[in-house]
Amino acid sequence: MLILSIETSCDETALSLVEAKGEFPHAIYEVHGNCLWSQIDIHAQYGGVFPMAAKREHAAIITSLLEKVFSEAEKLETQDTPSISDHTKTQITTLLEREPGLAEQLFAFHTKYGQQEIDLIAVTSGPGLEPALWVGVNFARALALLWDVVVVGINHMEGHILASVYDADRDDQLSDITFPAISLLISGGHTELIKMSDWGKYEKIGQTRDDAVGEAYDKVARLIGIPYPGGPEVAKRAEMARKATLSPYTDLPSPMLHSKDLDFSFSGLKTAVRYAVQDKELSETEKQALCRDFEDAVTQVLVKKCCAAVEEHGAQTLIVGGGVSANQHIKRSLEVALLEKFPDVTTYFPQSGLSTDNSIMIALAGHARAKSALAPQGSSVIRADGNRSLDAS
Ligand code: KG4
Ligand code: ZN
Repeated sequence: MLILSIETSCDETALSLVEAKGEFPHAIYEVHGNCLWSQIDIHAQYGGVFPMAAKREHAAIITSLLEKVFSEAEKLETQDTPSISDHTKTQITTLLEREPGLAEQLFAFHTKYGQQEIDLIAVTSGPGLEPALWVGVNFARALALLWDVVVVGINHMEGHILASVYDADRDDQLSDITFPAISLLISGGHTELIKMSDWGKYEKIGQTRDDAVGEAYDKVARLIGIPYPGGPEVAKRAEMARKATLSPYTDLPSPMLHSKDLDFSFSGLKTAVRYAVQDKELSETEKQALCRDFEDAVTQVLVKKCCAAVEEHGAQTLIVGGGVSANQHIKRSLEVALLEKFPDVTTYFPQSGLSTDNSIMIALAGHARAKSALAPQGSSVIRADGNRSLDAS
């Protein structure tokens, strides 16, 4: 099964062509093409992602990425173009009317190359920035109409979970995980603990009450003068402070550390950082120490709540996913704590390149939804839903 996957939930336009051989979860996946276009330079000037600019950029680039991903996969076929019926043309034009020029670009692609041979389109339909999501969703639906292919709407967070357990180098690429599992999802928009009783069976058992971890990283970065998205830069400075064993710059709280539930809160921590830097010109070493203090406070609470979730729910597996799971200190700390307290629990982190947003994870989820007991969504019902929850998947 050849899957075209599309991800436009935030500031990355990503398209992949992934071939799945076998049944989920024991299939082998071959990535034929993987293209990602980042809009970071555009959003850096706003200090965060500006949804309408994200939407515009997705629409401007998506057709050229479609061409790029097929040619990278050496699957760009130039076929005799089946003419598009007036009815289909009208449907597609209506579907894409909010994206100026996109329908024309798609028709031009079709005229140049004709129908491409794929078996499934998987597109992120939420959660994320709704204007940005709609570009991917409508583009996928238009392609599905044009080429008469099934399209499934994918929950972005389910993609992150599958990306974490996927290992291209293992025989059983989607590891045969033992349930119940706990997923800690940490990204720019989410911080949540999910209990999985099986593939596709989700229950949210904890979440942030305000900022997401990645959002807190990005805000701290901004407070010390690092442009969006500052998460990796804050992490880099924190590592320097650890190497140099710098003394603490300030005393920061680890919010909700002692609360009895599995919820998080990071806005108080961010405010504490704001007070710590207010009206001060920090030296580079002071910045490094502060980044380390912040990262330690975040890590402490993530480790504590993960361990509590594993214990309370008798989990056999811990899956950590989302952009912040690329953070090496958080990864090390979670691995060490789990190994010490729960040596029988297996912990999964994404392979490099699959922590932050990508479309390979959307292809994996697409295959799971299309080829398993996990019910697929029909083409006609796919809508972008910025708040789509995993519980409802
Ligand atoms: O999953 P993702 O790519 O997008 C969302 O779905 O939100 O996550 C992006 C977030 C950003 O906030 C970014 O600063 C953060 O992940 N991030 C990191 C690291 N790499 C990315 N935060 C801390 N340490 C990192 N190494
Ligand atoms: Zn994400």
